[in-house]
Amino acid sequence: MKILAIETSCDETSAAVVEDGWRMLSNAIASQVEIHARYGGVVPEIASRQHLLQITPVIQRAMEQAGTAWDGLDALAVTAGPGLAGALLVGVNAAKAIALARGLPLIGINHLEAHIYANWLSPKIGAEAERPEGPPFPALVLIVSGGHTDLVLMRGHGEYAILGRTRDDAAGEAFDKAARVLGLGYPGGPIVQKTAEAAAEPLPMPRAWIRGSHDFSFSGLKTHVLHVAQEVGLYPAPDGFKGSAEERGRLVANIAAGFQEAVVDVLVEKTVEAALAHGAHCVLLAGGVAANGPLRQRLTERSPVRVVIPRPVLCTDNAAMIASCGYHRLLRGERSGLELDVQPNWRMAA
Ligand code: KG4
Ligand code: ZN
Repeated sequence: MKILAIETSCDETSAAVVEDGWRMLSNAIASQVEIHARYGGVVPEIASRQHLLQITPVIQRAMEQAGTAWDGLDALAVTAGPGLAGALLVGVNAAKAIALARGLPLIGINHLEAHIYANWLSPKIGAEAERPEGPPFPALVLIVSGGHTDLVLMRGHGEYAILGRTRDDAAGEAFDKAARVLGLGYPGGPIVQKTAEAAAEPLPMPRAWIRGSHDFSFSGLKTHVLHVAQEVGLYPAPDGFKGSAEERGRLVANIAAGFQEAVVDVLVEKTVEAALAHGAHCVLLAGGVAANGPLRQRLTERSPVRVVIPRPVLCTDNAAMIASCGYHRLLRGERSGLELDVQPNWRMAA
């Protein structure tokens, strides 16, 4: 079954053709990151306009790279939520138009569930001989993206129990806010990781454990970074810092590293705890923050069971993961009608 999938929930316009839920034939991504970086974060109106400009060329690229004729497609999958309403509308309407014109089945997909399915994809684009063995169930999933931090027990395809989630900021959001306070730019995750690599003495930072619960909290840590930055004169104006450029660089690296260690520490320990408590056979990492090097490494070291993590490019937003998720839903006989609408606040079903 060849599925054309479309993703436009935030700031990447993406289209992909995936066969049987795992073989990536293409995964075209047009990122808007540089445009939004000028404003220090995603501007919804600009995102919608960019999706409109990019959607047709990105779909054409995905079809060409896959070497698939329109007749060769079996279904369409599209992100219906959660995300920015205006951005989601572009993808959903494109998918509906193609489904109607070609008489193909259509399925609306939850973006967070799709992040999990990045773990079922072949690591590389192109025809691979053998289907990779899927992760074993029950799987303990940590979804860490820009808007969500959820611990989910996945008992089988489409069977989820939400064990815990963040009570305030998402992990990715915390990375983005820490980066802004430290004057590092947007998006924060990759820059904080890079900056932290130069740290000689990571600054100790508080951790919110919320014992006895699988929930997370990152707002206290975020506020702590803000206070430290204010005290040393890095924020609100970077020229409040009185030392040399080198001293400033060293300090920013130490704050970034301390912050990252605190986030990774809590994410890893609480994930391992949940995996043990629920007898998980593996741990899956999903979402943009899953691209974080120290998180990948620490979780792999600490987990008592096998850890499966997508390649970094498949951790951040892409349409191939939407196709994989769509495949498993279509297999179960699920379909969306042409009345499919966007669901900006769609929560993953428990
Ligand atoms: O899943 P995603 O691409 O979009 C959403 O669905 O939200 O996640 C984006 C988030 C951003 O907050 C970004 O800063 C974070 O993922 N991120 C990272 C890294 N790469 C992306 N966070 C930490 N380390 C990274 N290397
Ligand atoms: Zn995402």
